[in-house]
Amino acid sequence: MDVAFYGHTRQYHNIQSEIDANIREVLESGQYVMGPMLKRFEKELAAYHGAKHAVGVGNGTDALWLTFMALGIGPGAECITHPNTFFATAEAIWIAGATAVFVDSDPKTNCIDPARIEAAITPKTKAIVPVHLYGQCADMKAIRQIADKHGLLVVEDNAQAVGAHGDGFKIGELSDAACSSFIIQKNLGCFGDGGAVVTNHEKIDSEVRRLRNHGSVKRSCHSMGFNSRLDDLQAGVLSAKLKHIDQWNALRRKWAAHYSTCLREARNLTVPYEVPGYHHVFHLYVIETKKPEHRDELLDFLNRHGIDAKCHYPIAIHRQEGYPWGKGARIVGPVPNADRNAAGCISLPMFPELTQEEADYVIGKVLEWDHAAGAR
Ligand SMILES: Cc1ncc(COP(=O)(O)O)c(C=O)c1O
Repeated sequence: MDVAFYGHTRQYHNIQSEIDANIREVLESGQYVMGPMLKRFEKELAAYHGAKHAVGVGNGTDALWLTFMALGIGPGAECITHPNTFFATAEAIWIAGATAVFVDSDPKTNCIDPARIEAAITPKTKAIVPVHLYGQCADMKAIRQIADKHGLLVVEDNAQAVGAHGDGFKIGELSDAACSSFIIQKNLGCFGDGGAVVTNHEKIDSEVRRLRNHGSVKRSCHSMGFNSRLDDLQAGVLSAKLKHIDQWNALRRKWAAHYSTCLREARNLTVPYEVPGYHHVFHLYVIETKKPEHRDELLDFLNRHGIDAKCHYPIAIHRQEGYPWGKGARIVGPVPNADRNAAGCISLPMFPELTQEEADYVIGKVLEWDHAAGAR
């Protein structure tokens, strides 16, 4: 049996009439960039987050660095994040011209460990950039407290967690802005690239709107900016999908609970940890082998048996070849949790449209490997 990692076409077929209708509406409108569908989706996205503003941009990386620029974060500034995230978190800090400062992650959630942040703060620190890794919110209450104490900005990297929330807080509520990616593989994904900045701050909203459109808010009048707009076709796809995101996240949670119930007793791996009171949306379902040397063995075993398991992210940013490519970077303290996460991570197939048969096959194969590994 083959089990795919993503269910893009299944998802499309399930809501094809809604997506096709929106695409047709855009095509018939003749307005494909900065048109009415983008405006509509921006309104819907802001409302979904309970936020005042949402600005569609070209991708999630741009959402981050456009926000940094809108906040005046550039050369000379430092942003604190953690190294076991997708490369783009740090890349966006570097594109803005700032220095990326890495601290360790929490051993259970793999999100930034708030207890490591204060030691990394210097007079140059401007922002904390927590990532809601794999679909679970970072500890935003603790991060907000630290930011308030030291007068820092907070920009959430929300590329992986649309629809998640913490214990008593929403995404976007305790930060200056939350930046999403809508690349197809995300839990809210368009049919290509897309991103958005969600914020309650008028200034961030207006600055990102100006920057994304060649520094222009009025036709033919420009200041220095860029071209990074979410086009209306992608906005139409996202508008159709946003109506289903809570239901899809619930299905992800159902499959995650099934995986975890069946794999919890496995001796050679750990299952994801959900913080009590948090709502993890399992953009990725990531197990970790207890022994790093087991990781590639299990991955290879699953792949050979038709299961498209992957790794997110097997090489932490500070271990990438050529790091830091002449950019400003600092690591504060040892980062054993980030290194452990990178060394042992395996992402199992996870998408709402999985079938019981597929999930059970994946579980069966992981347990088969676990029994054999335990015997060695
Ligand atoms: C944590 C994280 N940050 C940023 C990004 C960048 O998003 P994009 O690929 O849309 O630029 C991604 C996804 O690709 C991501 O997973």
